[in-house]
Amino acid sequence: MLQGKTIVLGVSGGIAVYKAVELLRLLTKAGADVHVVMTKNAQEFVTPLTFQTLSGKPVHTDLFNLYQEQEIGHISLADRADLFILAPATANLIGKIAQGLADDLLTTSVMATTAPVLIAPAMNTNMYENPIYQRNEKYLAELGYHIMTPASGALACGWEGKGKLPAPEAILTEAQAVLSPKDLTGRSILVTAGPTREEIDPVRYVSNYSSGKMGFAIAEVARQRGAEVTLVAGPTNLEAPAGVCCVRVGSAAQMREAVLAGYEDTDVVIKAAAVADYRLAERADQKIKKSAETMILELEKNPDILAELGRLKEGQLLVGFAAETENLLAHAQDKLQRKNLDMIVANDVTRPGAGFDVDTNIVRFLYPDGRIEELAEMSKHQVARHLLDRVAGLLVDRT
Ligand code: PMT
Repeated sequence: MLQGKTIVLGVSGGIAVYKAVELLRLLTKAGADVHVVMTKNAQEFVTPLTFQTLSGKPVHTDLFNLYQEQEIGHISLADRADLFILAPATANLIGKIAQGLADDLLTTSVMATTAPVLIAPAMNTNMYENPIYQRNEKYLAELGYHIMTPASGALACGWEGKGKLPAPEAILTEAQAVLSPKDLTGRSILVTAGPTREEIDPVRYVSNYSSGKMGFAIAEVARQRGAEVTLVAGPTNLEAPAGVCCVRVGSAAQMREAVLAGYEDTDVVIKAAAVADYRLAERADQKIKKSAETMILELEKNPDILAELGRLKEGQLLVGFAAETENLLAHAQDKLQRKNLDMIVANDVTRPGAGFDVDTNIVRFLYPDGRIEELAEMSKHQVARHLLDRVAGLLVDRT
């Protein structure tokens, strides 16, 4: 998403400047071409050399520096940028932008750009709550500036409350969201993720290795592209992506209930969850005590949620996953037809770099007309982008 994008990272003076160094690292790692502009106050906290070393480019600091102005610095930066990120953005910087003041390189560049501007505020909690600041923030939001909500916690000034710079990872995600196409706006998408747990007794369960990474990535990217996203997640340690309505469930029965509850009003369902096919015929109420040398557990079939959705389908677009260890295409084809799907994502989970609990996946997309698309190994977020490209295309074809 950020690969090859030109980003101007505007850094103003606050204790959180050091976190902008980490943000620069993340942006660069994501493939962005980052140009740093520092205000005079920002240089009191971290020297330009730190940013210069990490970005591999001179840091812009001075509106009237003849060397930098050979390229008419503020105009060239403003023109070339795909995105401006202001992090940390102080109350002073935000106030100046809201008043149309352009008295240094950063404010001049922001005023001269037509690129989207993402603002990550950081300040003392009383400053954040000050009605003057709140008025400025509201005004800029109305003008189309993208403003993040600061994090809460202990502030450097000793106060506790809202005002901390959001985590660099959260700013990176927001930058991706700002630059994403909004081709899923107005669509409601239900994604399932993670494993289910079928309890044996109060302390044991039957489950699988799903981490939820694949489904969470789909939910996050769908949200970034403007969809209204509900994520039904089995047990996982992952945090719900911002702006996504996350329903946490345990068993397949609970997942079925949560999925069916929203199905009627949903445009697209993407079932990346690894639902347990069987549950205990009888769950013990108390911890089963060790006694005999062997133990036999009787399992009974769980409902196939996806097959049920296929039967109830009334115009929804239904995307399934197939996790296979052999005969990938044959099994995936069978599931595509039997469950009445519009598309299935097949992954051979025995391949290194694919399937459960890794950050990458290797998938094929199969369609009811027999078409098969093969994707190379890529991050689960990239798989999610490709998948949602196809989903957006199928939705357009239907209108
Ligand atoms: O979570 P990660 O660690 O990131 O791993 C990703 C993944 C391997 C879990 C994911 O890529 C994947 O393949 N998900 C589907 C896993 C699975 O259960 O596949 P399946 O072939 O058993 O099921 C086929 C489809 O039917 C799936 O969409 C599944 O959600 C659905 N299903 C299965 C059984 C059941 N009782 N109800 C269902 O809805």
